[in-house]
Amino acid sequence: MYGFKNSKEKAFSQTLGFQYYFIGWAPLGDIHCIGKDNGHKHNVMYKKAMINAHRRIKPHIHHTPVMTSRLLDEMVGAKLFFKCENFQKGGAFKMRGAVNAIMQLSHGQKEKGVVTHSSGNFAQAVSLACQSLGIKAYIVMPSTAPQVKKNAVMGYGGMLVECEPTLQAREQNAKHLVDTKGATFLHPSNNLEVILGQGTAAKELLEKRPRLSHVFAPIGGGGLIAGTAIAARHFGSSCTVIGGEPFEADDAYRSLESGTIETNRTTNTVADGLKTQLGDINFPLIQQGVDRIIRVQESEIITAMRLIWERLKIICEPSSAVALAALLKEKGAFQGEQIGILISGGNVDLDQWPF
Ligand SMILES: Cc1ncc(COP(=O)(O)O)c(C=O)c1O
Repeated sequence: MYGFKNSKEKAFSQTLGFQYYFIGWAPLGDIHCIGKDNGHKHNVMYKKAMINAHRRIKPHIHHTPVMTSRLLDEMVGAKLFFKCENFQKGGAFKMRGAVNAIMQLSHGQKEKGVVTHSSGNFAQAVSLACQSLGIKAYIVMPSTAPQVKKNAVMGYGGMLVECEPTLQAREQNAKHLVDTKGATFLHPSNNLEVILGQGTAAKELLEKRPRLSHVFAPIGGGGLIAGTAIAARHFGSSCTVIGGEPFEADDAYRSLESGTIETNRTTNTVADGLKTQLGDINFPLIQQGVDRIIRVQESEIITAMRLIWERLKIICEPSSAVALAALLKEKGAFQGEQIGILISGGNVDLDQWPF
């Protein structure tokens, strides 16, 4: 009835249909008027929505640097541009999506605060974004989360709610806070406003380096790469998006293969930010805009992380090294190209070191 050309276009439109259901409590501002019957219009609206998201969040985020390394270029046989979101506020790209989604809430919603459940970077980003915007943040974290991460959340003024280390307990606690405090739930990756915010990292990179032929990004819950796909389509020139994923948490790779959202069979990976699952808002965007996903072994992630520390002289966390690991694995296919790599975060537990 909507005249979809193919299953990808249908899936894309369904994303827009679902948005009220999943994020109806967080109004969609720029994108609420997207029609369901015109693929071109969808695209124009996504471009405008990302431009507006970027303008909105700019006062609250860092415009992060782009770094290069002659030695890494030689090692890969291509020209590499690293977008360093490890220097982002809160230590990861997550601040972009958190600020964008929170700023889009109504006055009434802002007064009641927001709630999320996360054991990692999104928890810190929501706490920091809320502190910066003067809003209450309830953060549900498993009691087993590293103390350093709990401290960071509390240090940014987030109200920490500890729970059993199961997804069910996290969801139940978050729902309780929604029910009792009237707080708005923010999903770390399956929320269109979060996705648009995350995509601004690639938008900045492409504005600086418009001739990139590929951008590599790690995949966890799929928010970063879905936003990157929107950015590449609208701010790049024939730029493809390639995902990196650990073999140990390869739900996205298998989901692209099968055409339906698959679950992780294992999550035994050093890349702790990539253990999460794709969602039904970001999956169609990934299907439409991600060229391929390259899976990597744990040893390959560690090698890539060491190279980034050693050659770029910067701290990155294992999840963000997965993008370079993917490129190194298939470097033969990218000879002579200009390639963007998202260094997505730099939050590592320094208590492991003898400082
Ligand atoms: C450092 C880092 N990189 C990548 C990701 C993956 O992002 P997404 O869940 O949006 O796919 C995460 C998610 O927590 C992360 O913390």
